[in-house]
Amino acid sequence: MCGIVAIIGGRPVAPLIVDALKRLEYRGYDSAGVATIENGRLARRRAEGKLVNLEARLEAEPLSGTIGIGHTRWATHGVPNETNAHPHFAGDVAIVHNGIIENFAELRSELAAKGHVFSTQTDTEVVAHLVSEGISGGSSPQEAAFAALKRLEGAFAIALMFRGDEDLLIGARNGPPLAIGHGEGETYLGSDAIALSPFTNQVTYLEDGDWAVVRRDSVKICDMNGSPVERPRQTSVATSFLVDKGNHRHFMEKEIHEQPEVISHTLANYLDFANGAIRQPELPFDFATLDRLTISACGTAYLSGLVSKYWFERFARLPVDIDIASEFRYREMPLSKNSAAVFISQSGETADSLASLRYCRGEGVPIASIVNVQGSTIARESDIVFPTLAGPEIGVASTKAFTCQLSVLASLALRAARERGTIDNETERKLIRALSEAPRLASQVLRLEERFRELARELSHYKHVLYLGRDTSYPLALEGALKLKEISYIHAEGYAAGELKHGPIALIDEEMPVIVIAPHDRIFDKSVSNMQEVAARGGKIILITDATGAEKANVSTLETIVMPDVPEFVAPIVYALPVQMLAYHTAVFMGTDVDQPRNLAKSVTVE
Ligand code: F6R
Repeated sequence: MCGIVAIIGGRPVAPLIVDALKRLEYRGYDSAGVATIENGRLARRRAEGKLVNLEARLEAEPLSGTIGIGHTRWATHGVPNETNAHPHFAGDVAIVHNGIIENFAELRSELAAKGHVFSTQTDTEVVAHLVSEGISGGSSPQEAAFAALKRLEGAFAIALMFRGDEDLLIGARNGPPLAIGHGEGETYLGSDAIALSPFTNQVTYLEDGDWAVVRRDSVKICDMNGSPVERPRQTSVATSFLVDKGNHRHFMEKEIHEQPEVISHTLANYLDFANGAIRQPELPFDFATLDRLTISACGTAYLSGLVSKYWFERFARLPVDIDIASEFRYREMPLSKNSAAVFISQSGETADSLASLRYCRGEGVPIASIVNVQGSTIARESDIVFPTLAGPEIGVASTKAFTCQLSVLASLALRAARERGTIDNETERKLIRALSEAPRLASQVLRLEERFRELARELSHYKHVLYLGRDTSYPLALEGALKLKEISYIHAEGYAAGELKHGPIALIDEEMPVIVIAPHDRIFDKSVSNMQEVAARGGKIILITDATGAEKANVSTLETIVMPDVPEFVAPIVYALPVQMLAYHTAVFMGTDVDQPRNLAKSVTVE
């Protein structure tokens, strides 16, 4: 989390840094700051809260200088106030940092004993002092930075600037991404290529352990031993346009509405609808002989993987182990040589997912990833990438990336089934046809938006909500609860409907509406039994089903929303939209910051 930028050029850099930070605000928005070297001195402006506050500050008190660093923060150490906002200074050293320095307390006491005085509670300030200590001891800025970097434990991306040398930036990466941008007489550092896209499309990604000495006209990259290394210069495809909301009030609303189109693009990338065939790149493993698939991801991306477990196991008879990446990475799971690993991530930068990927790499397992951000670290470290073609997702709550992840996973499950010979041609064609209908069905669901808005008005009066579902609707129940809590701050739980009687049924009363996601499928009757258990205890049921389900439910509900008839295979894609719309409209009624909910960030690069 946190976005960092540094620019060394021939014009005033503060406005350029703010422009780049706008593209990084998805990484955190607790506070922001910019520092430059102004008339030979380190100068900075910082502001608590969103970037607009920093912009206002800079408008009132502009910063000159042709070298500078900037930061947008997601707090780890220290409350998100102006004092703790980056950049931090110590002596002649200025720093911005993304990540966590795990041994900061030990370093801080060591430096305090030498007389260093700290003005913040951050781990970052300690690094500035450590470098400054080296410079005071007679080292050059590069020597001091390198010596300090070697002592840091944890995951970090760092940019350093030095009073006294206006042609020097130092960037370092150990975990979170850091890209170098190459311009004409200007050089840049940024957390991603999108941040640098207004200035250049020529980028070099640092690898873990790399640090770079950046000047206006040159870049030298060294590895963690200090030996010079070559890293390829690439042409980035990141667009320099700041995506706008169009006619929508929020990015989340826009992204919900884009789903028919982006699902269609994504499916068409993996399936040939005209010929009813699967069209996919070669894999670094063979589905036909695979023993198991290991899937790992976080949050909403994890839930798309959980849906796919049902698909891979049911259609391809391929056992799936699925884990939350933060658990998987430390679980030391033995992986069979005859398995493959799949990582799912919108950002492609999530620290826990990346660490899990590297664990699998160490175990010698072939790695496929499903990623939305091209050129991201997870994409670059995978043997094969299946991009989701969702386009930039700006709203912090994932919507269109989720349904695109499901679209890729459904296409992959079909391929696995065909290659393992577990479905016949007729079934394969039927399932491809079903998938081809998903975009049209998603548009039909969007037409029900007013119903969901009305229901959201009702939901916004409650403090707790329970979501229930069975089979592939179970991960959707989890997703519904996750969406609702993250953007409306209403407490919500998702449960497998059959699990209700093993505990959560104790919660049922008039104050806790129960949203049941239940298309009419093979096990619909089981969901009806669970609804009856809720109704018998005075629970208020909101049923999301289809016409047949509504007719057969035979249970009294507070609301029944009738969805279009949906082939069972694609129900998770289509039924994702109601839970997104419910959460969105509830949050709007609650008056929360829908696109940038409190405490969250779009890209989670700390563990
Ligand atoms: C929830 C949400 C998060 C992300 C999670 C993983 O709406 O967006 O739960 O799904 O942080 O992020 P990525 O997909 O970037 O790895």
